[in-house]
Amino acid sequence: MKKYLLVFTLILFSSVIANAQKENMVAVNQLVIVANHSGPVISKDIYGHFSEHLGTCIYGGIWVGTDSKIPNTYGIRNDVLFALREMKIPNLRWPGGCFADTYHWRDGIGPQEKRASIINTNWGGVTEDNSFGTHEFMKLTELVGCDAYISGNVGSGTVREMADWVEYLTSGSDSPMTRLRKENGQDQPWKVKFFAIGNENWGCGGNMTPEFYGDVMRQFSTYLKDFSGNRLYRVACGASDNDLQWTETLMKEPKNRGMFQGISLHYYSVPGGWGRKSSATVFDENDWFETFRLNYDMDRIIRGHAAIMDRYDPMKTKGLVVDEWGNWFQVEPGTNPGFLYQQNTLRDAITAAIHLNIFNQHADRVKVANLAQVVNVLQSVILTKDDKMVLTPTYYVFKMFKVHQEAQLLNTDLRCEDYVVGDRRIPAISASASVDKDGKMHISLANLNPNKEITITCPVIGDTFKTVSGEVLTAKEMAAYNDFDKPESVKPESFSSFNLKDGILTVKMPAKSVVVLELKK
Ligand code: AHR
Repeated sequence: MKKYLLVFTLILFSSVIANAQKENMVAVNQLVIVANHSGPVISKDIYGHFSEHLGTCIYGGIWVGTDSKIPNTYGIRNDVLFALREMKIPNLRWPGGCFADTYHWRDGIGPQEKRASIINTNWGGVTEDNSFGTHEFMKLTELVGCDAYISGNVGSGTVREMADWVEYLTSGSDSPMTRLRKENGQDQPWKVKFFAIGNENWGCGGNMTPEFYGDVMRQFSTYLKDFSGNRLYRVACGASDNDLQWTETLMKEPKNRGMFQGISLHYYSVPGGWGRKSSATVFDENDWFETFRLNYDMDRIIRGHAAIMDRYDPMKTKGLVVDEWGNWFQVEPGTNPGFLYQQNTLRDAITAAIHLNIFNQHADRVKVANLAQVVNVLQSVILTKDDKMVLTPTYYVFKMFKVHQEAQLLNTDLRCEDYVVGDRRIPAISASASVDKDGKMHISLANLNPNKEITITCPVIGDTFKTVSGEVLTAKEMAAYNDFDKPESVKPESFSSFNLKDGILTVKMPAKSVVVLELKK
């Protein structure tokens, strides 16, 4: 009898194991969270955005003018203002991008009818009437409640022009610049937090070598003064992608390091490559996988630049400013190729989660980041069409992740299964965790696998939490998106597929989803 029982138990056990293997349940998906040993503060500014005079980002997307029938405040769309406020946008970069390299700020001040009309040579060759200029941008930041990040023109501008702009913006003393500002209706100086000394000076900003740019950057920076209590965070133009040589050249020279507080990095994920960009909405699982493989590269690229910075700046006084990132696809069929208008799907939402988790994990070095771009261009959080507006899946990820802003990063250890397509593999889960000033813990997770729910176990060490709540963003289709006739196809929902017992949180993440959890004591 005993013998039969043993055989029966063995058969049962092996069938349980076989089933578990079939279901892939034996894979260990574990995120250990050390709740009482926090790391650096996650700068709110890594949740920043970017607005450029490109396509319909500014004109139509943000600025409609005071005479517009579209509800507006001082010419700025109310629906967009409200959405950006809700998302808690910390800073906005402007006026470009490559547009900044041809921008002369005096064209965009004074009475509207007297402003210069120019050609936007970078983006579609369209006429730029400069109706949105310095005062309109600063009003936008004031209404949204975010900091200004202004990109100065090194490529085709002068030192004097840039120095005057900073004085016009921030000085409270009496001077020709401040008198001009007052004549134009702004009595008090504004506060400007971030100021970039050029954009992509290795490319559209003048095709410079890093040595030459270093010299030019020091010259410009010398004349960017801190007026009337404003303290500029000066951002030197940094590298594109893997160009470690650029970072090395700028960082190794002590004279350079004294002239900036941050150094930028631009990295876009371009599935298919620059020559054969893929579609934003029509794609298969290979494209889905490839997009995330490229997204994960952000981590490797940051590590490369950060390692160089660590050598010359071990106390981490200089920030890495990832002021352009995101997915770059083909433009929507029938739209102006120079306008870079693309739709935004659940895939982009997962891209955003991967990036924001990476930036959180590098909070010691990454101090600012700006998704390209805020409205109607590339991986936008908002799309507009005449008086209509939709919030994209990417918007909702920023809204879900805002709980990490200014929270302390927690030490985590992630072990997870791979997401495999053909013979290629990437980690199936992306994660980060933080604790905010009220002691609430937030965990952000993404399950990249479109075919499989994944259960992850999170032992929480060092502190005790009693309650959990959460939100999830997912959809039936990988390519699900919000459009003007169906604005709510992809939006977050309340999430309850978790269990917290004896300090171990178990979470069942739906296939292709982003989950953010809040744990309270
Ligand atoms: O975001 C679009 C463009 O990409 C920016 O203008 C430029 O800086 C980058 O090459």
